[in-house]
Amino acid sequence: MPTSGLEDHIVDRGVYDRAVRRFRDAQVLLPTFAELAEPHKIPGAVRQALAAVKPDEAHPLNLFRVHWYNGADRSEQVAVPGHVVLGKQLTGVDAKIVVAIGDRFPMIRAHKVLAAYACLAPRVVTGQFDPTSHRAVWPSTGNYCRGGVAISRLMGCRGVAVLPEGMSRERFAWLEDWVTDPADVIATPGSESNVKEIYDKCAELSQDPANVIFNQFSEFGNYLVHYQCTGAALGDVFEHLREDEADLRLRAFVSASGSAGTLGAGDRLKQDHGARIVAVEALECPTMLYNGFGEHNIQGIGDKHIPLIHNVASTDFVAAVSDQATDHLALLFAEPAGLSYLRGRRGVSEAVIAALPLFGLSSICNILASVKLAKYLDLGPDDVIATVATDGASMYGSERARIAARDFPRGFDEIAAAEAFGRWMLGAGTDELLETTRTDRRRIFDLGYFTWVEQQGVPVESFAARWEPSFWTGLRSKTDAWDEMIRQFNGRTGVTP
Ligand SMILES: Cc1ncc(COP(=O)(O)O)c(C=O)c1O
Repeated sequence: MPTSGLEDHIVDRGVYDRAVRRFRDAQVLLPTFAELAEPHKIPGAVRQALAAVKPDEAHPLNLFRVHWYNGADRSEQVAVPGHVVLGKQLTGVDAKIVVAIGDRFPMIRAHKVLAAYACLAPRVVTGQFDPTSHRAVWPSTGNYCRGGVAISRLMGCRGVAVLPEGMSRERFAWLEDWVTDPADVIATPGSESNVKEIYDKCAELSQDPANVIFNQFSEFGNYLVHYQCTGAALGDVFEHLREDEADLRLRAFVSASGSAGTLGAGDRLKQDHGARIVAVEALECPTMLYNGFGEHNIQGIGDKHIPLIHNVASTDFVAAVSDQATDHLALLFAEPAGLSYLRGRRGVSEAVIAALPLFGLSSICNILASVKLAKYLDLGPDDVIATVATDGASMYGSERARIAARDFPRGFDEIAAAEAFGRWMLGAGTDELLETTRTDRRRIFDLGYFTWVEQQGVPVESFAARWEPSFWTGLRSKTDAWDEMIRQFNGRTGVTP
């Protein structure tokens, strides 16, 4: 049965003591969830020491950069998370689409490193992960396993990445650099939506008690860290925008769902600002929308199942975006002809042009789903839709070359740019967008039964309990309890910056 990672007491004192000794030797200090949510609370001495560490260095202090408040240099801490506001020239809609920038996260340039920390740190401080003998296994379609390998290395533990062989070449190149042993990168058959094959591999690996599987689809630390950190970060961005325009309203939070961790931020934004929550998937694999399945290229999302940590009952909309759209707009946003078209014909500002390399495939998917929602709800200039750019375009150079050769063999010129923009951005419609009724939510929720109860052995009562809002609100005190344990653990190691 997959674990939920929710324990908040010391489970094994021997393991705990060994972790304390290892962290003391390796000089690893752990940030609390509260510090990652509000990094200005990180002690001055830590911040000073961090200034001498580069953001992509395998240095334990980089754990204190695993938050949304890194500056454009990815090094300095800033008061407002990195974001870009997309206007009508790019999106064709009046509503403001504000995108938080995942590229500023350390080591992997994607916010999935936050999810990885939130899964491993509670295990360490509750004596469930022994860094002297366990291997942290990170099943994912790409970024979470990179985040897991990075966090494991910073914590002096061994991390193993399990990902489909069809993921981008750049992901594998990064992993080869970061793992301590090449055997710690395990490629499973298939591509983006072949999650079952990853699970099968993990089931096999878990036969060895030295392997601890961190299943992001069922680890509630993943939900909680996004509720607490990503939700608060987007809230800060919105409040910052409101300083200049007091009438702005936060109408929705849009997030393409892989593990559904990021969607946890939606619960926070709904609670604080009344935002509605939009879960997005690939049209070629419309699991939430139509109980469908299939292959697609929006890397990081859409895994043919409903994650255990998805609060389906609070999901207000489901949207699907075609991977043809994200493939072609990824070219538009990177090719010289595309940029020249956006500047010359659309009048897109230099600030927005400069942000385009920060948008990977799922980021473009989030933007397109936001455009669809803005049209459906008839949103105007005072309406804000918040979303995230989980990773940037740099992970997809090889993908762009493949897409260009496949779909634009004569080259991506300005006519191709205009076609791509007209078809996929201006032409984004309100089709493939479902405003969910209670029955829709129930259907989506119940679909999870087959994965979690039938395949993975979660007790049906635990599965069913997640329908009630009180289950999710009840989880939220966990991070305070973990923070207290993190403080105690740091006290035991005695590590200071
Ligand atoms: C590039 C990318 N986008 C989106 C997601 C989905 O985020 P989440 O797993 O929090 O739903 C992921 C997850 O790995 C990702 O790597």
